[in-house]
This record gives sequence, structure tokens and C-alpha cells, in this order.
Amino acid sequence: MFYLTTAIDYTNGAPHIGHAYEKVLADVITRYQKLAGNPAYFLTGVDQHGQKVQQSAAKEDVNPATFVTRLTKQFKNLWQQLEIEHDGWAETIDPRHKSCVQNILQDLFDRGQIYKKSHSGFYSVRQEQFLTDKERNADGQFGDEWGEVVELEEENYYFRLTEHASWLKTFVDQHPDYITPKFRRNELLQALDRAAESDLCISRPKSRLRWGIELPFDEEFVTYVWFDALLNYISFAGYRATPAANLPDFDQLWPAAIQIIGKDIMIPAHAIYWPIMLHAIGFNDSQIPRLLVHGWWNIKNAAGQAEKMSKSLGNVIDPVELANTFGTDAVRYYLVRDIHTGNDSDFDLSRLVMLYNTELANNLGNLCNRALNMSKRFLNSTLSPSDYDDEQCQALRAKLPLCVTNYRQAMEQFAIADALTAVIDYISAANGFAEMQKPWELAKDQEAQARLTTVLTHLTEVTTHATIMLSPILPSASHRLLQQLNAPQLAELKLDQLAWGVLPANHQLGKPKPAFPRIDLPADD
Ligand code: MSP
Repeated sequence: MFYLTTAIDYTNGAPHIGHAYEKVLADVITRYQKLAGNPAYFLTGVDQHGQKVQQSAAKEDVNPATFVTRLTKQFKNLWQQLEIEHDGWAETIDPRHKSCVQNILQDLFDRGQIYKKSHSGFYSVRQEQFLTDKERNADGQFGDEWGEVVELEEENYYFRLTEHASWLKTFVDQHPDYITPKFRRNELLQALDRAAESDLCISRPKSRLRWGIELPFDEEFVTYVWFDALLNYISFAGYRATPAANLPDFDQLWPAAIQIIGKDIMIPAHAIYWPIMLHAIGFNDSQIPRLLVHGWWNIKNAAGQAEKMSKSLGNVIDPVELANTFGTDAVRYYLVRDIHTGNDSDFDLSRLVMLYNTELANNLGNLCNRALNMSKRFLNSTLSPSDYDDEQCQALRAKLPLCVTNYRQAMEQFAIADALTAVIDYISAANGFAEMQKPWELAKDQEAQARLTTVLTHLTEVTTHATIMLSPILPSASHRLLQQLNAPQLAELKLDQLAWGVLPANHQLGKPKPAFPRIDLPADD
């Protein structure tokens, strides 16, 4: 089973385009795996505990449970609107998750992997966190952003991260494909020496944080949110569903084939804490899953410089509004088309419109129109067999296996934009073929009937192939096109079966309808 997870989103604010990108990327990969014939299971969800949630709820004067329920709904609705077809749904307030986390904590505590100690240091009352020297300004002081800073002594529970640091180093050395893309693995290698040099504080006293999972061995404390959240990947796969046993599903699912996260949460959470947690719990090296680390969607400011999207800068792109305006197809397409997985990209509405209009409305739309409308007008929508063949037809047919190979290779490397390029090139080749063959001229010539049938059959075949290869990215457009092609059963076709002749002789096509209406932006005043 190809088990795939994403980060679980914080429910302390509304979803933005960055959250949407990660889920679309994961959904495309899952749907591609299914198309490639591999059973796949996709888990995503929400991260509902922690200081940030407690603070945001307090600001609105509601209790955290009410607050997270409301935000969770917003995320769920968005995933539905964007056609994110997840198989599992992780909510960290779920009792199943809580009992798994507590079982693991108890076990680690019993084995001496968690211990209690006292820590004294500088504490920011406003940010509710201990500060280190890293937080000091050039003049050695803590800046105004920290508010009142007091010296505080506090007892907490610590996880023996340092004990496993050398294991992690060896593991990363021995697993060159542990992190995709490669340059992120290099970042990890550079950070490894520093990153696990102190143990991880995994508790918060209830006096300053109540909204979390209580430690099973000390009711005065709750679990640090990252320790709780990371465990969602195994708790929702059925690990330690009871104190002693896993659900049978767990062995089918674990290890995850790939865990998708953004670059900001690779170090230390996913590439240091997480593998070490798994190792300490008792997972062996072959059970440590690979990470796919994606880049960020940024936004250009008035001066043309890329900056981070953030609520405080007021530059956040709302995916709900975007999908309401341009449709789910356009949003999904843009989010995987205009970024190279692993790198950053600048969100640009004019490029969303341009790419949609050029590649879908014009290029693919044109091909669909030629294939379906001309077949209706000239062949009464029936693709009857024809003996006509020529070099141009052969050349077009030869492009299919090439396209499938490039598409598959790119998809296997999670390079969705490259997979799309392969399909778009194939569509362009078919449009070029149409311009050379000129079926609209052939239709005027009684003698050219066989050739016309062959040409339109070729155009319809390519439309069908493109529809199938685009289905992971544009599931509903692909569904609509298969209806028009009168071939809904091809939704079950596997990539290996994608060969010339997917539509049988004498196939009767359905009713054509423009699949990708152009988007026209109102002109700027
Ligand atoms: N709750 C943690 C993750 C816990 S996983 C056990 C978290 N949540 S988050 O809501 O802040 O981010 C969720 C995901 O969205 C992360 O992978 C993050 O990298 C991603 N993105 C947040 N902003 C983004 C962009 N602007 N662009 C692309 N992805 C971004 O971190």
C-alpha cells in the first residue's frame, strides 16, 4: 500500500493557499499512484492543540474546543471544494489519537526515555516561552516583541533526544534518498551536529497550557504540541489502538511511502524529532519513512520583491475565494503547474489565468473541440474503422509511449509540472497534426472520407489519453470529458493499459460541450 501523509494544519487561523498547495500536491500524487495501479491511502488532517490555539481562542473569548471545531470545519470544507480525496482524517483531539499518544508516552517513560528535570532561564510572559541567547538582539537584550521577560525556574519532562543523535547521523548517511529534494538532505546533514545536542522538552505545566494531551504519568502536565502532532501519522494508521495492540491495518500502511511537508517544518520537527521518536519507540531503520519537502508559495510586494504570505502583512491568498472565482480546476492546475516541487514560487494571479487559458482553454480545449465537434459534424459521432494511414499518423501514434514514459518518470519523482509538460507537448503535437491534416478541408472531399475518419479518430484518441493522464490533476474536468467521449469506464483504466486504441472500433461519442471556458479578467482601470 502506498501510504502518504501531509502535515496536519494548525487550526489557529483560516486555511490559505500554502495549505491548499500541499493538499493538492498530495492528492495528485495519490491519484497518480492509483492510476499507476498501486493501492494508495492518503491521510491528512488538523493539528488542534497547543499554545497558539489556546491564545487564539482566548482572544475570541471562546473555549479552545469550540474554536478548533469551527476551524476544522473550514479546512474540511475547503478540501471538499478542492476535491482533495483523503482516505483518512486526523484530528488530534480525537480520543483514538489521545490514547495512542498516552500509550507511547507511558511506554517511553517506563523505559527511561522520558525523565523530569528543572530548568531555569528567561521566560517571555507575552509569548509564553523560554528564551535562549538566540533570541537576544545585537545589544544582548531581548527585544520589545517578547514583552515582559522574567527569570523563571520550571520543572518539565524531557525526551532523550541526544541519546539517539549518532544513530540518526548514521541513518541519514546510509539513506541517500531519505529526503527529496537532495539539497534539503544536505541542509539536514549540515544541521545534524547542532540539532540534537539537547534533550527535547515534551511537557508544558498546566499552569501555562491546558489545551493538550495530559501526560499519563503526571496529571499536572500536558504534552508539547509537536510531540503530540507528529504521532498522528501512526495513531491514525492504527498504531497502539489499545495499550498492547495495533489495528491490523497498521502493518498494511506503515511505513508511509512518503510524508509530504513544507520546508519550514523539516528541521528540527520532521527530520530530527520524528525519526528519533520512531527509533526510540522501537521502529527499525526500514520503518523510517521518506520525506518529500516542498517549497513555499510567496507573494510579491508592491516593490516586486517576494515576501512570505502572512496574516500580519495582510497578503494572504484565500483559496476559497480563488476557487469560487476561477473554479477548482483552475486552482488545482495552477498550484501544481507553476512551481517545481521542492522550490519556492511567487503566487501570481495573472499567471494562473494565462496558464489556464493557454494550456487548458486553448490547447486542450481546441483539441477536444476538434475531436468531438468535428466527429459529430462529419462522422455523426461514430469512429468507424478506416484503412487510411500515413507518416503523420504514425508519428503521432509514436508520441504516446514517449509521453507516457516522460509523464510516469516525472510523476514518480513528484515533479508534477514536468509531468504536465509531457502531456501538454502531446496535446500540442495533436493540434499540429490537425493543422497539417486539415480535417475541415477533408470533409469537403468525398474521396477523402477514409482519411477524415482516421484523422478524427487520432484526435479523439489523443484527447482520451490526455484526459486520463490529466485525471490526477483535474479529476472533475477529466470526469466531464470522459462523459463527452462516452467512455466513463476508462476512469478505471491503469497507466500500463494506456496504449493506442483505447476507444474500440465503431465507438459512438457523446455530446460535445466546451470543457474549459476561457477566463476573462476584468481589465484594470
Ligand atoms: N501543525 C504544523 C504541522 C504538524 S505536522 C505533524 C504546521 N501547521 S501549519 O498550518 O503551519 O502548516 C501546515 C503545512 O502548510 C506545512 O507543511 C507548511 O509548510 C505548509 N505551508 C504553510 N504556508 C505555506 C506556503 N506559503 N506555501 C506552501 N506551503 C506552506 O506547521
